[in-house]
Amino acid sequence: MILVRTRDALAGAMSTLRASGATALVPTMGFLHEGHLSLVDRARELADRAVVSIFVNPLQFGPAEDLATYPRDEARDLSLLEARGADLVFVPAIEEMYPSGEPAVTVSPGRLEDRLCGRYRPGHFSGVLTVVAKLFGLVRPDVAVFGRKDFQQAVLIRRMVQDLNLGVRVETGPIVREPDGLAMSSRNAYLSDGERAQAVGLSRALLLALGRFHEGESGATALLEAVKDELARFPLLRLQYAELVDPEGLDSVDPAESGSVLALAAFCGTTRLIDNVELS
Ligand code: PAJ
Repeated sequence: MILVRTRDALAGAMSTLRASGATALVPTMGFLHEGHLSLVDRARELADRAVVSIFVNPLQFGPAEDLATYPRDEARDLSLLEARGADLVFVPAIEEMYPSGEPAVTVSPGRLEDRLCGRYRPGHFSGVLTVVAKLFGLVRPDVAVFGRKDFQQAVLIRRMVQDLNLGVRVETGPIVREPDGLAMSSRNAYLSDGERAQAVGLSRALLLALGRFHEGESGATALLEAVKDELARFPLLRLQYAELVDPEGLDSVDPAESGSVLALAAFCGTTRLIDNVELS
């Protein structure tokens, strides 16, 4: 596995890798878990070479968010990636990604920002799209792989590639969960034992609503009430939103159809967690 930290070294290493076949990129912010590593597996299935980036992108953090405390463990990440068969890892410093400071030109998510998480995290998705567009420009992969855990992010990246003709194939991988159902997340490291025990409420609430849908309930109000009632059983959870949306335009749907997505965000103590389930 090759480790590069600069754009120049990346360009050199990529031209060698590209000569040996198709390349797939998995962008991450590090502190890797099985969710990230499942995307590396997928990248290796989809292409001849798997490239992973690790970069905690300041542009996507709000002023009151956790940029300074975001968990990091580069040595552990590198050994996990090596064991998983990644070919190249790009770990740039901030100056390498943003040599002139904050970029003057950024990518706008447009009206898709007014939905789901975007409403509560102004600027977040512009920061995500901008760094992903930069990574696409630097790595120039054939394929890029994202997790459905960050549902709105994956939708926006797909739309960016389509609307701006970026020429990268976007693939997604399923949500990887802890044995009790909690979606894996680097931010789960923030949870105290008591919070961790209640964080399972998010996936329980979604699964309960999915069960209702399978039993024939498709009314948005009834499904969202089922989510809220279940979450109310966990006093450390505070719902930010739960919405039932169509998986492309992210518009609210009622009744739910097969393929609709039920997405939510909730605070567990002070940690903001997200999860979603496709109704199918
Ligand atoms: P990060 O949160 O590190 O996630 C990197 C990738 O792993 C994303 O595509 C995310 O959806 C996926 N992922 C995280 N948890 C997952 C889980 N439990 N199951 C499956 N996939 C999971 O998302 C980001 O970083 C950043 O916004 C980034 C795209 C790298 C841009 O900075």
